[in-house]
Amino acid sequence: MIQAEFTRASPVRGQISSIDDLFRPTHDERTRQHFISVLRNYAKSTMRDAMAQSYEEKLRPDYMARHGSEPADGAEIERLMEDDIYYKMYSVVRYNAQRMMYQSTLAPVERELPAMVEFAREIARERPAGGSLRLSPTLEIPRYVSRLDVHLIPGGFHTEYVPDDVAQGVIIDFGGRVSRGANTYRNKDSGGVGRSIAYWLSQKFPALAQPDVLDLGTQSGKNLLPYADVFPGASMHGVDVSAPALRYGHVKAECQGRRAHFSQQNAESMDFPDGSFDIIVSSFFFHELPVAATRRILAECHRLLRPGGVMAHMELPPQDQCDAWLNFYWDWDAKHNNEPFYIDFRSQDLAGLAVEAGFAREDFFTTTVPDVTTFEMSRYPAFLAGEIDAPLHGRGGWFIFGATKHA
Ligand SMILES: C[S@@+](CC[C@H](N)C(=O)[O-])C[C@H]1O[C@@H](n2cnc3c(N)ncnc32)[C@H](O)[C@@H]1O
Repeated sequence: MIQAEFTRASPVRGQISSIDDLFRPTHDERTRQHFISVLRNYAKSTMRDAMAQSYEEKLRPDYMARHGSEPADGAEIERLMEDDIYYKMYSVVRYNAQRMMYQSTLAPVERELPAMVEFAREIARERPAGGSLRLSPTLEIPRYVSRLDVHLIPGGFHTEYVPDDVAQGVIIDFGGRVSRGANTYRNKDSGGVGRSIAYWLSQKFPALAQPDVLDLGTQSGKNLLPYADVFPGASMHGVDVSAPALRYGHVKAECQGRRAHFSQQNAESMDFPDGSFDIIVSSFFFHELPVAATRRILAECHRLLRPGGVMAHMELPPQDQCDAWLNFYWDWDAKHNNEPFYIDFRSQDLAGLAVEAGFAREDFFTTTVPDVTTFEMSRYPAFLAGEIDAPLHGRGGWFIFGATKHA
């Protein structure tokens, strides 16, 4: 639980240039974060490989000897793996590293929360970049957000402990940096997914210059803000149900001189007029939702796009595009990382859902685009020409599904 007393003066402007400057882990806290980062990466590389080896060399051959066929799907592999020591070790370490990566941000946030809140208030009053923040204190937070600590984030996405709270925004953002091993907290291109999709859209849809862009489940706008770089003059809008994440995103955007408009809305039913946007995007969003919500949100995408506009959502690839092992591996999060809708989402017929939402089947697409922060960009024209594939999702590429709206 975060405790904060509003007895301290706000930080003196000029001493800090970003709210992130107020996240000041001690030497020991930083060391702990570094350890957690290494531990998590160890689980996701060495321990993952050991688990795969155990499956390939023992469990799979045993299964085939008994049944005369391969395990049918990821769920069957999971049943086989349940008693495997490598799977158990992997799961224990990954689960605890995930929990600790957020826990390790709590003390630095608790210490500076009053100053962070004050700084965010000052920036929200002054709005140096001319963006906006529209909060709806009466918005009902959907149960699929409010009823669990998604990703094992203590307090989940939305919890507020103090007036004008920003804590969850900071915890989620810095927890992510711990997980990526970005221990200097500086000079890392967070927002690589947004930048990669924006760049791909700019190449595939050159008519969409100076677009109105909407990012769903934007959180702190990390993957929205790169649109300003790729599409100079774009108007940027982000919606999320989490007020603390939006406050944190707003102050960051303003301090970076990027004019973005954040609003606290449920993407299932937004208050923008029909045909407001040229581009609607999201990242790491749909797998958080029950399928009924996905249906409503895709219908909103169709309503809000202008004719000729495009939606592009970065997500995990669906089950039918992956082999059984990969499905087993990726669906781990559903049970162990508080992601209960993951499997349902990955088993959907995405094209069918888009058609239900109003898009024409021939306008639906899936593809994997290169991560522009790691891809050798001189090869991008060859990728666009279909001569080479993007790297696999999560290994230098990002899977997206989307559709254009008939002009
Ligand atoms: C996993 S985070 C993705 C954050 C961000 N898009 C990124 O790329 O890092 C999912 C976000 O979706 C938000 N969210 C979940 N359901 C929502 C809904 N129905 N409407 C708006 N936002 C929602 C959550 O509050 C959370 O911030």
